[in-house]
Amino acid sequence: MAWDLGVVEMLLEASEYVREILGALAVGEVISVDDSSTKFHVPEDHKQTLVTVSVFSRYMPLLGMRYNNVKDCTQQRNPAGMVYSESPVLFSILEDMLVIVKKDMIDTDILPAMPQIVPKLESGIKVAELGCATGVIINKLASRFKNSTFIGSDVASKPLEEARADANSRGIQNITYSIDNIENISETYNESFDWILTRFVIHDLAYPQQALNQIYRCLKPGGIFSMIDIGIEGGIIGNIANGISMFYYSASTFLCIPESFRQPDSAALGATWGAPLAREMVAKAGFTIINEFASRTDEMEIHFVCQK
Ligand SMILES: C[S@@+](CC[C@H](N)C(=O)[O-])C[C@H]1O[C@@H](n2cnc3c(N)ncnc32)[C@H](O)[C@@H]1O
Repeated sequence: MAWDLGVVEMLLEASEYVREILGALAVGEVISVDDSSTKFHVPEDHKQTLVTVSVFSRYMPLLGMRYNNVKDCTQQRNPAGMVYSESPVLFSILEDMLVIVKKDMIDTDILPAMPQIVPKLESGIKVAELGCATGVIINKLASRFKNSTFIGSDVASKPLEEARADANSRGIQNITYSIDNIENISETYNESFDWILTRFVIHDLAYPQQALNQIYRCLKPGGIFSMIDIGIEGGIIGNIANGISMFYYSASTFLCIPESFRQPDSAALGATWGAPLAREMVAKAGFTIINEFASRTDEMEIHFVCQK
């Protein structure tokens, strides 16, 4: 759960623990303190940054918890991995990233990159999000575009249960969920979808090219694949001292590479696979990129709008 900044005031007199925490934040200039050292407040211009940091900071203990396992993985003769469902808290952090940090990426990052899809969604099309985790994006789309039908799928079952519970609690009826491996999509979905969406999934896969080929197969002719992914330009040398790249390289070591190493011959591209390789792989699957749209909240998060 992210920090609720309002709680700071409420806790002020609660305990010596709180006093020490407030002291740490005040001397670090994260919050302000009055001359008597008894009244603290969060400056207005710090609030958004603190909210963002409160979500990002949840990655630190998670990476620490995975440290020994990932270290073991690196020392095996055949590279080994550790899937996301071994750290279920990750799904809650990913959800907070979407809900608290990005807020509403449908209206800021997704639809503005492909406005031509909106009237089609309104009249009724078939949409799938693969690797949807707890369904933040696909549930919102389904609730908004009631004439369209949606499928949310993921290889992990636990987050899908949460997605389903959320849809049920909000009375969303035009969505179904399935536990599926994106690298091996059923033949029954051949040329089935008008729009397929993935966010932060392709670089995590054991066989990403195979997955892109399967997505191509499952789209109707002219259908759209929205590949939202990390699209770093310039490789290591082009990103020296870049804080966002540092985060992605670190998180990738503990999350994306182990996730990909489900098989010893996995691609293990990692989050830092780079925009040039992303473009090359979608082209190899047969797609034409008709737009590239950088996220409002993170210029390295790119929405590659790909047409079949
Ligand atoms: C980094 S998370 C992104 C989740 C969500 N799309 C988001 O934007 O927060 C990657 C997701 O892909 C799923 N995934 C990984 N490998 C998969 C596979 N082979 N088939 C389907 N889903 C997969 C994971 O379980 C996880 O939910």
